[in-house]
Amino acid sequence: MVRLLPGLALLLSGTALAAQMPDSGQVSDSAQTQALGRRIFQDNCVRCHGIGGRGGTGAVLARAQLVHASDDSALVGVIRDGIPGTAMQAQWHLSDADQRLVAGYVRLLGRVPPESLSGDPVRGEALFHGDAGCLRCHVVAGWGGSLGPELSAVGARRGAAYLRLALRDPAAAQPPEDPFSRWYVTGYLPYLVVEVQPRVGPAIRGVRVNEDAFSIQLRDADGRFHSVLKSTLRRVNRRPQESLMPSYAWLDDEALEDLVAYLASLRGLP
Ligand code: HEC
Ligand code: HEC
Repeated sequence: MVRLLPGLALLLSGTALAAQMPDSGQVSDSAQTQALGRRIFQDNCVRCHGIGGRGGTGAVLARAQLVHASDDSALVGVIRDGIPGTAMQAQWHLSDADQRLVAGYVRLLGRVPPESLSGDPVRGEALFHGDAGCLRCHVVAGWGGSLGPELSAVGARRGAAYLRLALRDPAAAQPPEDPFSRWYVTGYLPYLVVEVQPRVGPAIRGVRVNEDAFSIQLRDADGRFHSVLKSTLRRVNRRPQESLMPSYAWLDDEALEDLVAYLASLRGLP
């Protein structure tokens, strides 16, 4: 019982604070908001966005400008409704007051100096377009393969720590599995790795492109497209903690840092 009290106090003071806020869509950045919003952030957001919003499998939030949240009401909207087709789910379990408190905290996180990187973005670009073969699977500025995500604005969405992890250990960069939700089964998770075992013939492993009750479409690591009827399959295995991207841990540290510096410089089409 006693353990519930701080949460209850938080809830009550959160509601009282929201009642004092003007209803202009703006969120407050008072010291009180900071303390209350931080608690909500730690409980609900840190596992994806990292401590202080410095990024994990979720976007870096410690940035002056957010891609999906140009102003405060857009920011509250992202928290309330999520971003369709990504691991950013609607935070419907938070009250309106709590959504605004955590939005206020996210705004405070944005007041940080940009990260300084040791790599050389020009050498990184040469690697990306050349020997490392990244264009085989990624589009940058309208050019490349489509097995992996478009990277033209990846530097605006992701921090250096996440980019390093995505290169060294792509599987570890997948969003954490949520034991309370089966969302990766119902189609939210992009680039989900799926392995299908036909009744006859070898298994096919690929990124799920589409799925309905009767069929599933995947693209394998060589870019080949497969469309199969579920009635011909023995098994469909979903592997949310795997990736089709090869690890680049074999590159030396300098080359990796050059790639990270190049990726961090990609902030949308000029
Ligand atoms: C299960 C992981 C997960 C959780 C939990 C989560 N997020 Fe996210 N969030 C993401 C991902 C992934 C993205 C990036 C989506 C994309 O690709 O654009 C994102 C994007 C965002 C953005 C947009 C960033 C931008 O640049 O526009 C905001 C704001 C945000 N999250 C806030 C929150 C807040 C606040 C919470 C907690 C109440 C939260 N998120 C909880 C995964 C998560
Ligand atoms: C065989 C295809 C393939 C190759 C080659 C490849 N990737 Fe990927 N990459 C993917 C896939 C698929 C994803 C989607 C997420 C996952 O499954 O890891 C991804 C994800 C990423 C991400 C995370 C993007 C995000 O917003 O979460 C980054 C960054 C990235 N790749 C960079 C690179 C770089 C740099 C190279 C070259 C050094 C490269 N990739 C080579 C397939 C590939």
